[in-house]
Amino acid sequence: MSTSNYITQNKDRFIQELFDLLRLPSISADKAYMKDVLKTADLVAEFLRKAGADKVEICSTPGLPIVYGEKLIDPNLPTVLVYGHYDVQPPDPIDLWTTPPFEPEIRTTAIHPEGAIFARGACDDKGQFFMHLKAFETMMNTNTLPCNVKFMIEGEEEVGSVNLDQFLKDNKEKLAADVVLVSDTGIINNETPSITVGLRGLSYCEVEVVGPNRDLHSGLYGGGVPNPINILCEMIASLKDEDQHITVKGFYDKVVELSKEERTGMAEAPFNQEEFKKSIDISGVEGETGYNVPERMSIRPTLDVNGIWGGYTGEGAKTVIPSVANAKISMRLVPDQSPEEITKLFQEHFESIAPKSVKVKVRALHGGQPAVTPIKHPAYQAASAAMEETFGKKPVPFRGGGSIPIVASFEQILGLKTVLMGFGLDSDAIHSPNEHYGIFNYMKGIETIPLFYKHYTELMSK
Ligand code: BES
Ligand code: MN
Ligand code: MN
Repeated sequence: MSTSNYITQNKDRFIQELFDLLRLPSISADKAYMKDVLKTADLVAEFLRKAGADKVEICSTPGLPIVYGEKLIDPNLPTVLVYGHYDVQPPDPIDLWTTPPFEPEIRTTAIHPEGAIFARGACDDKGQFFMHLKAFETMMNTNTLPCNVKFMIEGEEEVGSVNLDQFLKDNKEKLAADVVLVSDTGIINNETPSITVGLRGLSYCEVEVVGPNRDLHSGLYGGGVPNPINILCEMIASLKDEDQHITVKGFYDKVVELSKEERTGMAEAPFNQEEFKKSIDISGVEGETGYNVPERMSIRPTLDVNGIWGGYTGEGAKTVIPSVANAKISMRLVPDQSPEEITKLFQEHFESIAPKSVKVKVRALHGGQPAVTPIKHPAYQAASAAMEETFGKKPVPFRGGGSIPIVASFEQILGLKTVLMGFGLDSDAIHSPNEHYGIFNYMKGIETIPLFYKHYTELMSK
């Protein structure tokens, strides 16, 4: 049977099996879901085994386990290491979901007339890594697997992959490969295939500003003592100037400016600012002077408050000057910024701008290096040829704004480049309520992946 016949005949089962995976709330951030996370690892292992992988195992780490499996057909052929993550983000705010996050359902939308699967993790990343298992099953059952393949599906991506570097260091031989293949990013839209060639890095800090040693009556003390929330807000406001440049000293020192040519190339990717604004209901955009919106969201670093709290936030009014204020601040980084350096610069800067009346603490939560894949790499060329076949259009290379910290580790620890052949859409609402993944995208991925293997093996044997 041809691969395309196999895929068509098994389409419904491919969707039902993904549903089984989506029903498990594998939330890595919340210890209460530990059992479900472990169950998910078991189910992934079972699917890998059924698809035809050998040496399937659940590798324990000090945190959540990594599922491994392989099919080695010939040591002289290239080896592709497939990476994905079976953990998901918490579903909150749960009230905003139209249907429950762990009860997958297919509904049509304007962007997905063929239907989309609604569930937490549908796109990020269960639906996307599962395409690789189904593509592998297809190749096994149609005798078309052209090279060696290894799978490494982890359970801690959404909490920073904190144990993965050590796993890579301890298992260099087991993970030896020629390239890493990942579907955990997106395409520009279903008519405009694209391949992500850059990811931003990340430095994530939590800050605390402490004023008086207890909450105070805001009438008795107000006006004469430091209010940590007021002060925190002033400090945060000062982190950007009128051009929305980040004021942290040294922040831009290592930023690589793109050439005019590269920026012109980027501008060829379609972007409609009015539609963009409408899609998220904003009446204006914001950002750094001198750069357009797609540039601000991909090739420029950022600083954003992700959460801020302190004082009284319950119902009604409580007249109080809080003792403590906190905020979570993330900085997205671009080549050649290093998360360690930026975290240190931020820490020094933030402490230096604090008034003497308060105590300030900065705690680093996690970080990740930015990464880029050269389009000359044979695996990029193979991904491009594969997508051109299935979409009927050559994909455009583009830089994404998100982060997958482990991609830099693949290069540093295993010496491997990564190809980011993802099929999601920005509108798929990853990390948001009503996350979904198009049936079109899911099936397109399953069709494209075997072609990647074919082209990559051909290119490598030349
Ligand atoms: N799959 C995403 C990253 C992504 C999505 C990159 C779309 C490009 C396009 C990944 O699961 C993710 O959410 N990463 C986190 C970083 C992590 C350290 C929590 C992120 O980017 O915030
Ligand atoms: Mn992801
Ligand atoms: Mn994610």
